[in-house]
Amino acid sequence: MTNNPNPIEDHYTSGALGAAILAALQGMRKDIDHLTPDDLAAVDEFHGGQRPATVRLAELLDLGGSERVLDVGCGLGGPSRFLAWRYGVRVSGIDLTAEFVRVAQMLTRRTGLAGQVDYRQGDALDLPFEDASFDVVWSQNAAMNIADRDRLYRGMRRVLKPGGRLALQEVAAGPGGPPHFPVQWAREPAISHLFSADATRAKLEAAGFRVVIWQDTTAEALASAARRTRTTSDAPPPLGTHLILGDDWRAMFKNSARNLEERRTELFNAILEQAEEPAFSSAASQRA
Ligand SMILES: C[S@@+](CC[C@H](N)C(=O)[O-])C[C@H]1O[C@@H](n2cnc3c(N)ncnc32)[C@H](O)[C@@H]1O
Repeated sequence: MTNNPNPIEDHYTSGALGAAILAALQGMRKDIDHLTPDDLAAVDEFHGGQRPATVRLAELLDLGGSERVLDVGCGLGGPSRFLAWRYGVRVSGIDLTAEFVRVAQMLTRRTGLAGQVDYRQGDALDLPFEDASFDVVWSQNAAMNIADRDRLYRGMRRVLKPGGRLALQEVAAGPGGPPHFPVQWAREPAISHLFSADATRAKLEAAGFRVVIWQDTTAEALASAARRTRTTSDAPPPLGTHLILGDDWRAMFKNSARNLEERRTELFNAILEQAEEPAFSSAASQRA
């Protein structure tokens, strides 16, 4: 936290993340000028289930390689670099947190993927892209900081080409009550905006999407969170998301597992398609 006036950006900003990641990699004897996405996966896949969850979501999409992909709330860029590296697609990432965008750009240069992946700072609620410019919009664990889901999903639909697809991994509110805080996306309830899976689905459909695949992945997420929680009494590994999260990372890991266990949170994967009937017609109407 850095007293940034935007409380969400403040939550995610540490101020020295790039240096901390490079120092950890050097400690692991990695060549920091020639990194691979695998070298970085412990830290740059900043969502429940990390790389295996990204692989599962990508497999649902069955990418051919020629697609243009937008990663909304791209964080440090782990998923976007992985998609470019594994499938050959071209990816743009957008994220609210300036430090994450700078680190994403730096890591992308060091993995030799800068020709395929680009990043910019911006708000998912006001996507700075032309209508119909992407084949796929991808987003993992970003919407839980976003209250105005109607606007978020309408914007995602707007930037998709006709017939384009949306791939989501999202945290949903479960029936067990509000989450225990702190969690990875919020230290307090004010910046946490969870909706139930049913409410999320209804908002996606109202924004002009048709559900192709909808999978509850709470059990997998809980298994992964529980495994990670068992290691919180040990010293952290050199490279991990604790470098992003700050001093209360142990409490966040424990609460994540507990929230899933008590069904305060649930996780789902979804693939959606632009429904034929447009909900609105232009960037101007979306931004109004
Ligand atoms: C838990 S991280 C996930 C990062 C990345 N998707 C991943 O899976 O590695 C959540 C991200 O959402 C971003 N975010 C939150 N609200 C946003 C908004 N309104 N617009 C763009 N990004 C946002 C945060 O800055 C953060 O990088």
